[in-house]
This record gives sequence, structure tokens and C-alpha cells, in this order.
Amino acid sequence: MACSTTSLLLALALLFVYLCHGSQAQLSPSFYNSTCPNVSSIVSSGVQQAQSNDTRILASLTRLFFHDCFINGCDGSILLDNSTSFQTEKDAVPNKNSVRGFEVIDSIKSSVESACPQTVSCADILALAAEASVNLAGGPSWSVLLGRKDGLVANITAAGNLPSPFDTIANLSAKFAAVGLNDTDLVTLSGAHTFGRAQCKFFSGRLANFNNTSSPDPTLNTTYLAVLNQSCPQGGNGSVLNNLDLTTPDTFDNKYYSNLLNHEGLLQSDQELLSTSGADTVPFVNNFASNQTAFFESFVQSMINMGNIPLPGGGEIRINCRQVNTNSSVNLDSKAGGDMGLDASM
Ligand code: HEM
Ligand SMILES: *[C@@H]1O[C@H](CO)[C@@H](O)[C@H](O)[C@H]1NC(C)=O
Ligand SMILES: *[C@@H]1O[C@H](CO)[C@@H](O)[C@H](O)[C@H]1NC(C)=O
Ligand SMILES: *[C@@H]1O[C@H](CO)[C@@H](O)[C@H](O)[C@H]1NC(C)=O
Ligand SMILES: *[C@@H]1O[C@H](CO)[C@@H](O)[C@H](O)[C@H]1NC(C)=O
Ligand SMILES: *[C@@H]1O[C@H](CO)[C@@H](O)[C@H](O)[C@H]1NC(C)=O
Ligand SMILES: *[C@@H]1O[C@H](CO)[C@@H](O)[C@H](O)[C@H]1NC(C)=O
Ligand SMILES: *[C@@H]1O[C@H](CO)[C@@H](O)[C@H](O)[C@H]1NC(C)=O
Ligand SMILES: *[C@@H]1O[C@H](CO)[C@@H](O)[C@H](O)[C@H]1NC(C)=O
Ligand SMILES: *[C@@H]1O[C@H](CO)[C@@H](O)[C@H](O)[C@H]1NC(C)=O
Ligand SMILES: *[C@@H]1O[C@H](CO)[C@@H](O)[C@H](O)[C@H]1NC(C)=O
Ligand SMILES: *[C@@H]1O[C@H](CO)[C@@H](O)[C@H](O)[C@H]1NC(C)=O
Ligand SMILES: *[C@@H]1O[C@H](CO)[C@@H](O)[C@H](O)[C@H]1NC(C)=O
Repeated sequence: MACSTTSLLLALALLFVYLCHGSQAQLSPSFYNSTCPNVSSIVSSGVQQAQSNDTRILASLTRLFFHDCFINGCDGSILLDNSTSFQTEKDAVPNKNSVRGFEVIDSIKSSVESACPQTVSCADILALAAEASVNLAGGPSWSVLLGRKDGLVANITAAGNLPSPFDTIANLSAKFAAVGLNDTDLVTLSGAHTFGRAQCKFFSGRLANFNNTSSPDPTLNTTYLAVLNQSCPQGGNGSVLNNLDLTTPDTFDNKYYSNLLNHEGLLQSDQELLSTSGADTVPFVNNFASNQTAFFESFVQSMINMGNIPLPGGGEIRINCRQVNTNSSVNLDSKAGGDMGLDASM
């Protein structure tokens, strides 16, 4: 009798751990109101400072948040360097010699640590930096939901499977669905290609002998094709940078979508959103191209959706964004104490 009561309690406790472990408390815009009230200004001024030397950094920081959130949720895993227990996601094919902004995040983290030691996660700094970047480039502003924990592992294998510019819509749609995002999020978040750069190697296959057809990609505007052909000659340097948005390269606006109407999407994965016949993304492209307000409203919602992708395992407030804390194996839930994470923070 006592035994089965114990078993029942144990079963309930395990169920509780199963349901709660890793599921972070509800994110909230006021998470740091009492512990770090100025954190969003500190992050925003760090981004502004970086921008004064490097216009492109606004795009780079926005992308960094995307590549963080798709791997183990938004947990700062992309910021981790190599360690004895895992390989850095920075070396995965979609990231290597491509994602950038790590030094800027380090510098912002150090300002945040000075103001509020061991309080703000690197994952939340990335979320705030992405919002500040979009807004500083002319895009919308929003209240960023906060309270994420930093993950304890990186996963280079998962990072290798990030959305690829060579994926079909079906592939992209599946990769978004795998993290709880739908085709509205796909077409909306792709609008982040309204700023920033892409290297020739990510689209030069469209310029000649596309998909073994011995012709360029038929969905590529021939005038734009000639321009890109100059920048990216076949067999040339694949790392040359090109504007993702030929119209307003550094401004966050809806020109990405009007470019698609002109068959001037740079990546195959961009143009497909309009040019795949029958795709459910097409009406969104048309709407966003004609109505920037609709795009901005949808973008805010989809950034919040992406920012809600949960960390499946335990987390902590990392002190150095590049490394897990040295005591983290006994500190799975940010607070000291080995009570299996069954504490008030859940
Ligand atoms: C839909 C699937 C996506 C694919 C296939 C994709 C692919 C790419 C590629 C290939 C580049 C160029 C990288 C380089 O040349 O080194 C790039 C750049 C960029 N991506 Fe995406 N992307 C996708 C979605 C997103 C999302 C969801 C965001 C953010 C919300 C985003 C933001 C950016 C930005 C801002 C840049 C420019 C970065 C810079 O200049 O440093 N992308 N993307
Ligand atoms: C948190 O601070 C912001 C900005 O100061 C304020 O607008 C908001 O009402 C505060 N929220 C709470 C729950 O105190
Ligand atoms: C908040 O941070 C900003 C940027 O770092 C700074 O200019 C401002 O003085 C800070 N405000 C307070 C109350 O600490
Ligand atoms: C300015 O930005 C460039 C990249 O565009 C970077 O290489 C350089 O280190 C930056 N300089 C400073 C002082 O941050
Ligand atoms: C990370 O570790 C891997 C495997 O040990 C190594 O090949 C790679 O060069 C390292 N990356 C960095 C940036 O040190
Ligand atoms: C890393 O991600 C892959 C899938 O992309 C998964 O199969 C694997 O279990 C993950 N590894 C860890 C340590 O979580
Ligand atoms: C794309 O999807 C197809 C069909 O579902 C699948 O066979 C293929 O392996 C996927 N390719 C990539 C790169 O994910
Ligand atoms: C995506 O989900 C949102 C709700 O979160 C919904 O309004 C929208 O219609 C969905 N989009 C598609 C294409 O199913
Ligand atoms: C590439 O060619 C294959 C085989 O002909 C075809 O099924 C596929 O749809 C083509 N892909 C694109 C993006 O045109
Ligand atoms: C094009 O053909 C080459 C040689 O037959 C093959 O290796 C390659 O995979 C093909 N590429 C595509 C996109 O179908
Ligand atoms: C692309 O550039 C090459 C020279 O690099 C030239 O021979 C070819 O005609 C160009 N094609 C187009 C479509 O502009
Ligand atoms: C190609 O681009 C030009 C200039 O942006 C535009 O006027 C034209 O309509 C586009 N052509 C097609 C087929 O979309
Ligand atoms: C543009 O989109 C907004 C937000 O969805 C909507 O309220 C507005 O009526 C739209 N404007 C036009 C001209 O359709």
C-alpha cells in the first residue's frame, strides 16, 4: 500500500519533470523590469555603436537570431565556441564564413554584465539585438518577450540542416513546420532579406546551366541576370558580396516583395515564394508588396513566433556567451541547487 502510494507519487513527480523540464516559464516583456530595467537601451546603444562602423551589422544580427532559434530553440547555442563536449555551430556549412556579429554580441554582453551581473541571458540579448537592428534600419519596433535561458550544448549536425537557398518551398515549409512555424511565417520572415548581403556562391547556379537546363533560371529577370553575371562570373570568386535587396539594400521595408514581383529575388529560395505555381505563399507576397503595414505587422508577429521556439533541455544565464558556465552540469535551471529543477522558476 505504502509502496504503491510511493510509486504513484514517483510517477506523478516524473510526469511533472517530463512536462516541466526544459519548458521555460512564459516569456514576458517585463521579465527584467526589476532586475535589469535598462537592458533594452543598453543593447540598442551597443547595436547603434556597431552600426556607426558597419552598416551591414543590422542585417547580420537579425540573421544571427534566426540561426540561433532554429537550433535547440532561441538559447544562444550559436554563440558557443568549440568545447570538449560539442563542436561549435559556427563551423556548420550554413554558418561558416557566413554568419557574423559575434564580437558585437560579446561587447553588448559585457556592457549588460556591468549593469546587471549574471542576470540577462545571451539568448535574450540576441532577441533584443534583432529587434533593435530591424528598427534602426527603418522597420517596425515591438516589445521583445524575455526570460529565455541559455542552452548548455551546441549541435553542429542540426545547424547543418538549416534552411538552404537551394531548398524547394516544400523543403523550406517542412523545416519551418519542424520548429512550429507555418508558411505565413516562412514568407514573412524571408522578408528579412530586405537588407544585408549574400555571397555569389549561394545563387550563381541560377545564372547559367540552372538545374542542368543549360540556361539561366527562367524566373530570374534578364536585366538583373546581366548585372549579377558581372558581379559573379562563372568560375569566379564565390565569396563576393551582393545586396539581397537591389532596390533599398540597407533599409528594412517591403521592397523585397516588390522585387519578387519583378523577378528580382536574389536567392532561388526567395523567388520561389512567388514563382512556385499554386504555392500558398503567393498571396502573401502580393499583399506585402502592396502594403508595407501588413508586412510590418506580420513580421512582428512572426519574429515573436520564432522567438518562442522553446529550448528542449535545461538552461542557465551564461556569463560568457561563448562558453557554458563551469558549474552548469549541476545547475540546469539557472539557479544553484540540485533539486532536479523542481523549483519556483518553472
Ligand atoms: C527561408 C529560408 C532562408 C534561407 C534559405 C536563407 C538563406 C540565406 C542566405 C544563403 C544568405 C546569404 C549568406 C551569405 O552569403 O553568407 C542569407 C542572408 C541573410 N538572411 Fe536569410 N535565409 C532564410 C531565412 C531568413 C530569416 C528567417 C531571416 C531573419 C528573420 C533571415 C535573415 C537574413 C539576413 C538579414 C541576411 C543578410 C545577413 C548579412 O548581411 O550578414 N533569413 N540568408
Ligand atoms: C516594465 O517597464 C516598462 C518600461 O518602463 C513599462 O512600460 C511596463 O509597464 C513595466 N511592466 C511591469 C509589469 O512593471
Ligand atoms: C540606460 O542605458 C543607456 C544606454 O547605455 C544609457 O544612456 C542610460 O543612461 C541608461 N539609463 C539608466 C537609468 O541607467
Ligand atoms: C568595423 O567594421 C569592420 C567590418 O565592416 C570590422 O572589420 C572592423 O573590425 C570594425 N572596426 C571596429 C573599430 O569595430
Ligand atoms: C572545432 O573543433 C573541430 C573538431 O575538433 C575542428 O575541426 C574545428 O576547426 C574547430 N573550430 C574552431 C573554430 O576552432
Ligand atoms: C543534434 O541534432 C540532430 C538532428 O539534427 C539530432 O539527431 C541529435 O540527436 C542532436 N544531438 C544532440 C546532442 O542533441
Ligand atoms: C526536399 O524534400 C524532398 C521531398 O520531400 C526530399 O526527398 C528531399 O530530400 C528534401 N531535400 C532537402 C535538401 O531537404
Ligand atoms: C499560420 O498561423 C497563424 C496563426 O498563428 C494563422 O493566422 C495563419 O493563417 C497561418 N498560416 C497558414 C498559411 O496556415
Ligand atoms: C530541377 O530539375 C528537376 C528534374 O528535371 C525538376 O524535377 C525540378 O523541379 C527542377 N527544379 C527547379 C527548381 O527547377
Ligand atoms: C547536374 O548534372 C550533374 C552531372 O550529371 C550532376 O552531378 C548534378 O547533380 C546535377 N545537378 C542538378 C541540380 O540536378
Ligand atoms: C555573363 O558573363 C559572361 C562573361 O563572364 C558572358 O560571356 C555572358 O554572355 C554573360 N551572360 C549574360 C546572360 O549576361
Ligand atoms: C525586370 O526588371 C525591370 C526593372 O526592375 C522591370 O521593369 C521588368 O518588369 C522586370 N521584368 C520582369 C519579367 O519581371
Ligand atoms: C494594409 O494592411 C493593414 C494591416 O493588415 C490593414 O489594416 C490596411 O487596411 C491595409 N491597407 C490597404 C490599403 O489594404
